[in-house]
Amino acid sequence: MLSSPSKTADELKREAAARALDFVRPGMRLGLGTGSTAAHFVDLLAQKVKAGLRVTGVPTSEATRRQAESLGVPLATLDELPELDLTIDGADEIDPALDLIKGGGGALLREKIVASASREMIVIADESKYVQRLGRFPLPVEVVDFGIPAITRAVEAALAAEGCAGTLQIRRRPDGHVFVTDQGHCIIDAGIAAIPDARSLARRLAGIAGVVEHGLFIGLARRAILAGPSGVRIVEKA
Ligand code: A5P
Repeated sequence: MLSSPSKTADELKREAAARALDFVRPGMRLGLGTGSTAAHFVDLLAQKVKAGLRVTGVPTSEATRRQAESLGVPLATLDELPELDLTIDGADEIDPALDLIKGGGGALLREKIVASASREMIVIADESKYVQRLGRFPLPVEVVDFGIPAITRAVEAALAAEGCAGTLQIRRRPDGHVFVTDQGHCIIDAGIAAIPDARSLARRLAGIAGVVEHGLFIGLARRAILAGPSGVRIVEKA
């Protein structure tokens, strides 16, 4: 008998996104995440909206705003809706405590603001994002466009003090130009192997002058919906 072909990462992302729809209730104010997994969620949500579901979305990036707008999902800004019911977003890494690394797509600042303004955050991902310890994925650190070499040195010192020294690189677009976030900042990607204490590193990075935000999302997610070859599972915060 022929075995069924294994699912692609993209198919798994869509499965996780589809499962997240079960948590959406009529009338909800929804934070809409950024990235390829969140894009599946926006696409599937738009189908529900077309079928009559009433929700209002608050996008976490210009890319998500454009996508949701083009698909007819009703939108508001966080200025208009400062309190949200639920945010659904992807992640680059998820650990068993549901602490996250985010920002691979460069939207970490708005993502963290929107998630923090939500009563609940649910992370959607393919199973490969689930790790025992955060740090394999380069940690994005969003910084102002002033004194970047000095800020980089301070970030380096913070990483070393936390026992996770690594290689820091300013993020560039494929055409070689420096990547600029929706808020007009730059991103330093910190290539480190593992983070011994993510909470402590998060505090230390937040204290550096010139660091606007970092990609460690500590204590924000309550559930993770993970899709793997053997199905979808939900990890809940203990
Ligand atoms: C965007 O800035 C990120 O935080 C994304 O949520 C994260 O990179 C996950 O992206 P994918 O769903 O594309 O893997």
